[in-house]
Amino acid sequence: MNKPVNVSITGAAGNIAYSAIFRIASGQMLGNDQPINLKLIDIEPAMNALKGVKFELEDCAFPLLNSITVTHDLGEGFGDCDYALLIGAKPRSKGMERKDLLKDNGKIFQPQGKALNNNAKSSVKVLVVGNPANTNALIAMHNAPNIDPHQFTSMMRLDHDRSKAQVALKYKVQINDVKKIIVWGNHSNTQVPDLSKTEVKGEEIKEVMNTDWYVNEFMPRIQKRGAEIIEARGLSSAASAANAAVSHMRDWAAGSSDWLSIGQISNNNTFGITNNIMFSFPSRCSGGVFEIVNELEMSDSIESLIKKTESELVQERDSVLELLK
Ligand SMILES: NC(=O)c1ccc[n+]([C@@H]2O[C@H](COP(=O)([O-])OP(=O)(O)OC[C@H]3O[C@@H](n4cnc5c(N)ncnc54)[C@H](O)[C@@H]3O)[C@@H](O)[C@H]2O)c1
Repeated sequence: MNKPVNVSITGAAGNIAYSAIFRIASGQMLGNDQPINLKLIDIEPAMNALKGVKFELEDCAFPLLNSITVTHDLGEGFGDCDYALLIGAKPRSKGMERKDLLKDNGKIFQPQGKALNNNAKSSVKVLVVGNPANTNALIAMHNAPNIDPHQFTSMMRLDHDRSKAQVALKYKVQINDVKKIIVWGNHSNTQVPDLSKTEVKGEEIKEVMNTDWYVNEFMPRIQKRGAEIIEARGLSSAASAANAAVSHMRDWAAGSSDWLSIGQISNNNTFGITNNIMFSFPSRCSGGVFEIVNELEMSDSIESLIKKTESELVQERDSVLELLK
């Protein structure tokens, strides 16, 4: 058995966390030989609910779960943290504009960035799930100058997995037959799910990019899948978002033979995307580090779509400049 690692989760009393925590404690994120100290963080009014989550975790008798901390104190919650899943965020209320949501949530991610900087291990791997995830991740990163910017990521894995599943359904193949999915940009409806490099059973399917299915069915479905789920379920996606968070961290820690879509700092990319935004790029992951798949050629149609998602991220960043100190 390895030495226990510390996994901190914010928004731990919320819906996504309720799906993620038990999978993490059972070993699905870091493997069956990795004991875990869970540090569950939420706001003070949620402490009672969080105690209930702790009771349920105890009742599962997970052999890998070494300890459980329940706290609203960020210093305690991020103490010696190896993996941080920043899930907690304020939902958009009726009539609230996106820029107000950005400001309110930015105020959550600024102190969390500082607390990670001052309390987590400098090798910490951070995944931001709480929306607007890309710009929240940028805020946290800027407030943690002692941590390498590449250790901050935002979650695009749900969009990536949604794309993979829709391609598998369309081609009537197994999920593992679909490789090299790309989702570029922001986790919003400007994101660009791109099948121009995708392979099904080892064969490229780039001709699908010119079809009615890609333009009028696949792309809008992926971009608006969250709304489709709310419409059907009456609740936002939680189990699938939790699954994506677990998969993102698992592949970052253990590596993956397939490409992944990872929201990451855009500095020094070879695609001409502006610096200093959290942008999703196709990435390879091994040995606990990821790198952009830089050698790709972009088609003109994809490039113009990418400009839109890039400019949305620039606007988001520019609306929270005071939090990027
Ligand atoms: N990136 C993605 O792909 C993706 C997918 C789905 C949902 N999301 C986002 O994930 C977030 C969480 O979704 P949910 O369904 O679990 O929401 P939820 O409302 O069920 O839970 C949110 C939790 O966060 C807590 N919280 C609020 N402020 C906090 C703070 N400052 N510190 C710690 N905890 C805090 C709340 O008390 C609550 O327990 C939302 O922002 C949602 O939009 C992202």
